[in-house]
Amino acid sequence: MEIKKQNGLRGTLAVPGDKSISHRAVMFGALAKGTTRISHFLEGADCLSTISCFQKMGIEIERKESEVLVHGKGLHGLRAPEGILDVGNSGTTTRLISGILAGQKFCSQLDGDASIRTRPMDRIILPLTAMGADIRSKKENGCAPLLISGRPLHGIHYSSPVSSAQVKSCVLLAGMYADSPTSVTEPFLSRNHTEIMLKYFGAAVTSEGTAASICPEPELEAREITVPGDISSAAYFIAAGLLTPDSEILLKNVGINPTRAGILKISRMMGADITLLNENHHGEPTADILVRTSALKGTVIEGADIPTLIDEIPILAVMAAFAEGTTIIRDAQELKVKESDRIAVMAENLKRMGADVQTTEDGMIIHGGKPLQGAVIDPHLDHRVAMSFAVAGTVCPGRMDILNWDCVKISYPDFYKDLYHLI
Ligand code: S3P
Repeated sequence: MEIKKQNGLRGTLAVPGDKSISHRAVMFGALAKGTTRISHFLEGADCLSTISCFQKMGIEIERKESEVLVHGKGLHGLRAPEGILDVGNSGTTTRLISGILAGQKFCSQLDGDASIRTRPMDRIILPLTAMGADIRSKKENGCAPLLISGRPLHGIHYSSPVSSAQVKSCVLLAGMYADSPTSVTEPFLSRNHTEIMLKYFGAAVTSEGTAASICPEPELEAREITVPGDISSAAYFIAAGLLTPDSEILLKNVGINPTRAGILKISRMMGADITLLNENHHGEPTADILVRTSALKGTVIEGADIPTLIDEIPILAVMAAFAEGTTIIRDAQELKVKESDRIAVMAENLKRMGADVQTTEDGMIIHGGKPLQGAVIDPHLDHRVAMSFAVAGTVCPGRMDILNWDCVKISYPDFYKDLYHLI
């Protein structure tokens, strides 16, 4: 994929449905009684992995255009899968499903692609084991493949060392099969879609500060769910609109849940002209986001903001490289265990463009405003890295050549089509 410098990105776009919310809608729909109707579902490869896992466990799931119907069978309605559950590239599928599988009356095995086989699963093995689960890393390296032998679980109060919605959700989902309430506390609040949606399905979930808890054996009932646009996908067009001269982009109906909206806060700190229109605060909050070209300056990204923008750090690093002054990203060591080591891979590719980037133990220091040019980019099969450099390609001179560009299908199959729609 070759991307060339552009002027004047203009137009209106409805980005695809939120990936985190799409996963959860299928999972909770499968565990609810009755038919859950999901509209604006994200048809990315990750969410399709979740669908296929539940189909293998006997749940009928129909896909009709952008609507998905999940014919749920209740909390105890899953059946033993034949063969391995294939999670593909999806950490969310792996970690959330493990919490559900730990409490079943059958054994299962989870496996995925080369990237998933390097991602840390001890972070869920530890709390699930404390709940009485039998979950093992087949190769005893703390990674997938995972062997799970379902059994009765006990409620725990888990103090997680990482701010991770996947860990929190895994433990809360296992808590539905436990003999007493379960709670999870994390250092900083991570995305709270599980808490919001499980409550909507009828579970007794409470949240206070960075703690969330759940009562066992909820009777989940089927619901209608409209998935908001994914702010993590919108982030590429926010950056493209800010960085490309003479641009104005309207992004329709994007999720702006505060646990996800760090990109808006940090962009504004960098000097971004962003206006929210048609805000709606029922359930998952949404808004239309209007972005206009802005001169950006460097900033510091750290602490409690990190979980609210964890997937947007690659595109924020691109914005920082084009901004005037220095941007410091710290407290972001989680980036090393994403689909790729995003600290190393972003630094490697930004340097190929001529950027001044230093990696640190828990982030990056980017001295912005250096003359940048197109380069051959290796995203290491990481969808968010590929999209970040596609945006960079619309801003700088010279040809941007992105290897394995189609890895964007994980979260945004029509990404390049939508980008060209604005040109
Ligand atoms: C996700 C949580 C985050 C995020 C991932 C999706 C989720 O991961 O990076 O893309 O849907 O719960 P962590 O929980 O590992 O931070």
